[in-house]
Amino acid sequence: MQLWLRAIFTLLIVLITEGHPVDITYLQSAVAKGAVCLDGSPPAYHFDKGFGAGVNNWFIQLEGGAWCNNATTCLERTKTRLGSSKLMVKTVSFSGILSNKAKFNPDFYNWNRIRIRYCDGSSFTGDVEAADPKTKVFYRGARIFSAVMEDFLAKGMKNAQNAILAGCSAGSLAAILHCDRFKGLLPPGAKVKCLSDAGFFINTQTISGTSHIEQFYSEVVNTHGSAKNLPQSCTSRLKPGLCFFPQNVAQHIQTPLFLVNAAYDSWQIKHILAPEVADPHGTWRNCKLDILNCSSTQLQTMQAFRSEFLKALNSLGPSSTRGYYINSCYAHCQTGMQETWLMDDSLVLSGTTTIDTSKKMCSYRRLPKQLEIGIMKENDSKRSIVLTPVTKLAFE
Ligand SMILES: *[C@@H]1O[C@H](CO)[C@@H](O)[C@H](O)[C@H]1NC(C)=O
Ligand SMILES: *[C@@H]1O[C@H](CO)[C@@H](O)[C@H](O)[C@H]1NC(C)=O
Ligand SMILES: *[C@@H]1O[C@H](CO)[C@@H](O)[C@H](O)[C@H]1NC(C)=O
Repeated sequence: MQLWLRAIFTLLIVLITEGHPVDITYLQSAVAKGAVCLDGSPPAYHFDKGFGAGVNNWFIQLEGGAWCNNATTCLERTKTRLGSSKLMVKTVSFSGILSNKAKFNPDFYNWNRIRIRYCDGSSFTGDVEAADPKTKVFYRGARIFSAVMEDFLAKGMKNAQNAILAGCSAGSLAAILHCDRFKGLLPPGAKVKCLSDAGFFINTQTISGTSHIEQFYSEVVNTHGSAKNLPQSCTSRLKPGLCFFPQNVAQHIQTPLFLVNAAYDSWQIKHILAPEVADPHGTWRNCKLDILNCSSTQLQTMQAFRSEFLKALNSLGPSSTRGYYINSCYAHCQTGMQETWLMDDSLVLSGTTTIDTSKKMCSYRRLPKQLEIGIMKENDSKRSIVLTPVTKLAFE
């Protein structure tokens, strides 16, 4: 892109998101360790240094972008930013939980804030020694995670007082899978927590009754050689592919974990509940594009999905080191955008267990009436569905 065009583009993005631009860094030194994107290019991240009282606090956000499950789809990915750092934009806007302004991000604005770019297609779990002989694709997500962490430890994270491993979507699944490993890298006195935003992908059937996501995850894990990097507390009991599901992993995580998720997660509705392979006649196409166009039967199916979601969450059982913020928005990733993280009309909780209903619910994505039944009310806050305000994730 022409330089001036890029400047205008960056300015626009920054104005729209109320964020500030942060340039990309390529971790060239990781290549020698074999920590590379699918196409062999170096890993990359965006790093905004902490200041003031936040200099020894670290907030790491792992970028999302689904997964590739076989040689064909992983090769296709190398032609996109999700498989090659050569194709990534050079500047991104930090807003929401990455904002550097106290007004927009009171808890973390002065921390060291990092977004690690996603280019391995395996939620940072892959590790196959040899490149694919046919396609020359590398499966090295776990090595990227290690190399980048090593880099930040050297840049000062080894003296961290507080650290959070977070992410969006596939990146937040990675934050769950790597949570205890991350804790293990930090000094013993550091307070370490993990935050998963839209990473609680559930193992449920499609609208046509097939086990699509279970099959898909087992292909991801096989293709990337991920099994050895998944929590052993799970792989010792279950098939590796099943250990890609947080519902089979999170109960064994020792490090405090906070889950933020919409119970009507829009990505999960589109790709787990009603993926194209399960909808050959395209009955769900309009509904997926715009939920205001869903039939009442489809809305019921989505309600049932919500029940499945809460059931999976409840199956983890109670824990004093796990918190949840589950709302009924039709959304996917809510902490990275200013609008859903902290604005006048964002969802907020009053106290620790109730939703402040004076605020407009999901105003950025109004729900059809029928779905609003699912909105979590005070009385819904049973045992393990602990509603805790997201912005109070801060360290107590
Ligand atoms: C690879 O995965 C895609 C998506 O699931 C599927 O459509 C395709 O048939 C698979 N290709 C091979 C060679 O297995
Ligand atoms: C949703 O329905 C409205 C009214 O029937 C229609 O105009 C619109 O095109 C539909 N949207 C989609 C995405 O199909
Ligand atoms: C919760 O449920 C109880 C019994 O069903 C009811 O008396 C109470 O008013 C409810 N509280 C709220 C805040 O809705």
